Amino acid sequence: MKNLVVFASGSGSNFQSIIDAVSDGKLNARITGLIANKYHIGAITKAEAHDIPVRVLSDIDFDRYSDYETVLLTQLTSWNADLIILAGYLRKIPESVITEFEGKILNIHPSLLPKYGGKGFYGLNVHKAVIEAGDAESGCTIHIVSEEYDKGPILAQQKVSVLPNDTPEDLAARVLEQEHALYPKIIANYINTLTN
Ligand code: GRF
Repeated sequence: MKNLVVFASGSGSNFQSIIDAVSDGKLNARITGLIANKYHIGAITKAEAHDIPVRVLSDIDFDRYSDYETVLLTQLTSWNADLIILAGYLRKIPESVITEFEGKILNIHPSLLPKYGGKGFYGLNVHKAVIEAGDAESGCTIHIVSEEYDKGPILAQQKVSVLPNDTPEDLAARVLEQEHALYPKIIANYINTLTN
């Protein structure tokens, strides 16, 4: 059985959908830890409610980036991470981690990549941009993480309609609902393709 380490910076609703899929037997994996880059976030509360170990690696705790990288890699080793699942993690993943876990880091993004990806496109900014552009559809994308932000190979996408009078919050909620259904399923499929 593969060990998943989830990285989150926010409310952790995608994290919860992964926890639920594991508990329901839909995702044959173990969640061995949560990496958070902030204290007092919803994702930490969710981890604690399910006895999942948490490590907070906040910028304020490190004078040097290299110290953060070292601590992160050591933590991943001690949790025996097979796969890293980014679930709304707003800090750049160090290159050393991407190299060490090549092809073993997945991310979910709330747009139909390559549209609305890259620097500045996170949270409601994404949905505001979609609405301002007048797009008729949006959605979410699950991809393998590479060194280029939001550009790794795409594993799956789910489209949703953009409705007249949608606010960014309306669109975010519609996309998020699809994220919760899609991410656990794609993680489960991806695990089946891994040979080691
Ligand atoms: C999601 O919209 C995800 O696509 C993006 O960050 C958000 C995380 O939301 N990467 P949550 O913390 O899982 O609710």
